[in-house]
Amino acid sequence: MGVKKVSKIKVAIDGPVSSGKSSAGSKTAAALNYQFIDTGIMYRALAYKIKIQNIPSTKWKQTAEAASFKWVGDLSKPSLILDGTNVSRNLFSPEISSFTSKVASVPEIRKILVSIQRKMAEDGGIVMVGRDIGTVVLPDAELKIFLTASLDARIKRRYEELNQSKTPIPIEKLKIEILERDKRDTTRSDSPLQIAENGIEIDSTHLTLDEVVEMIVKLAKDKESRD
Ligand code: C5P
Repeated sequence: MGVKKVSKIKVAIDGPVSSGKSSAGSKTAAALNYQFIDTGIMYRALAYKIKIQNIPSTKWKQTAEAASFKWVGDLSKPSLILDGTNVSRNLFSPEISSFTSKVASVPEIRKILVSIQRKMAEDGGIVMVGRDIGTVVLPDAELKIFLTASLDARIKRRYEELNQSKTPIPIEKLKIEILERDKRDTTRSDSPLQIAENGIEIDSTHLTLDEVVEMIVKLAKDKESRD
């Protein structure tokens, strides 16, 4: 019997707001000893910079072109350094979330970030999460997951996530934000959120985070020893 060749693969995870992509992606990366990259943070960081510096939309493309994105620290829980500054805090308010999806709907911005993300993934051994990873960024990914959950479950998760902070956000406000962002992300003309060809859909409504991770890790290990 021959020894099976094990190679590091690319895992793409896409899904709507609060479907659990980031938590599942980070835990999957830890289990596989892979690099985790949450592309949502890259869009959020850029949008945050644009917002606090009050950059007009005519200069957004220029700002994205000049930006330097670096992931540092723990492979499965890295922090994003944008232009030399750790910007991980302040990125998750409903205002920044909503503004991010506006910035992310601009094709010129997407083109720049997609090319940076492809470079980050070129050596494999990566779990990348977002909206267009399986369809546009890494169409060659060996494993493509489309993670969903019911609207109620997603609202509940987002509520729990955000309300750990000092200024709780009312559930009605979160529902409006999720619906508005889902609508914009799924109907935009450039790279709308959709399941990739060969994508595997996992509905996490009735699953725990560990159950979701277990499923993805099993699928990834299978691909690692086959590809
Ligand atoms: O995943 P997260 O909710 O943090 O992403 C914030 C926003 O960034 C999304 O609502 C979406 O508009 C945008 N995004 C995107 N493509 C990605 C990742 C995020 O358009 N690959």
